Amino acid sequence: MRYTVAGLLGAATRDLERSGISGARNEAEILIGHVLGRRRADLYAGSDGPVTLAQAAEIDKMVAARCSGSPLQYITGVQSFRRLALRVGPGVLVPRPETEMLVERCLELLEGLRSPRILDIGTGSGAIALSLATERPDCRVWATEISEDAYRWADRNLELTGAANVELYFGDLFSPLPKTERGNFDLIVSNPPYLSQEVLAAAPAEVREHEPEMALLSADAGMATSIRIIREGFDWLAPGGRMVMETAGSSQWHDLSIWFGKRYKSVQITSDLAGRPRFAEGRKP
Ligand SMILES: C[S@@+](CC[C@H](N)C(=O)[O-])C[C@H]1O[C@@H](n2cnc3c(N)ncnc32)[C@H](O)[C@@H]1O
Repeated sequence: MRYTVAGLLGAATRDLERSGISGARNEAEILIGHVLGRRRADLYAGSDGPVTLAQAAEIDKMVAARCSGSPLQYITGVQSFRRLALRVGPGVLVPRPETEMLVERCLELLEGLRSPRILDIGTGSGAIALSLATERPDCRVWATEISEDAYRWADRNLELTGAANVELYFGDLFSPLPKTERGNFDLIVSNPPYLSQEVLAAAPAEVREHEPEMALLSADAGMATSIRIIREGFDWLAPGGRMVMETAGSSQWHDLSIWFGKRYKSVQITSDLAGRPRFAEGRKP
């Protein structure tokens, strides 16, 4: 049998559509482009050209995995995030576009600071830590992560990025950090787990059944980890240091601004691209 790009694109799109994947054509292009090592825009040039049997089998396997609900990025093994192509797979959260805005906010807060010291809590794939380290090469970044699997992904991404200004620590929130860094950070950033049981139960199966619960779920209506970071992080900030974190939006931003207001100044909420209040921040006096 002779396989062509056009034929495989048609078949993959149909299979993905039947499995209820929205944007099936788009995803078929990504999967096929990934196996053939071609950019999506180049798939159509010579789309009647031959594809080897091994490539067709690989595409088939990937389409089947996607049809059974595995996140697209776990299948291709990569997610682009700002300037980086991060390696991802089972055991780590796929970084989301709104978190790119969290990084943007961090960069704004760092303006005017020389050689800032930054801490990323719950680094996952390393998305925030590595973006800041590469986009502000004069900074130093410390990052912590409690999941062994996620830590391994962050470590791999750190190696691939080659950033020499990032240190990864394995453990709970601030506990693995060198005590000498207490009170030294100019910025603490986090995209913590913030979903409640109810919200997670209503999330798409692709998220609920494949992405790690530890990255998504937090006690006390999704607020427990965020509140711990606000409370414990205060002592790790330098005077004038900032803390900024992603929230679930909804009513969480309001409750978090109250928690910030207990000890921090300049408490502020900023919105994501969709205009939803998303990022809560405060400054240590
Ligand atoms: C929502 S994910 C964010 C991952 C990454 N920062 C990003 O934005 O894509 C939350 C991360 O925090 C980690 N985490 C959860 N509880 C933690 C804790 N107590 N200490 C350190 N990391 C924690 C999870 O394993 C997960 O990798």
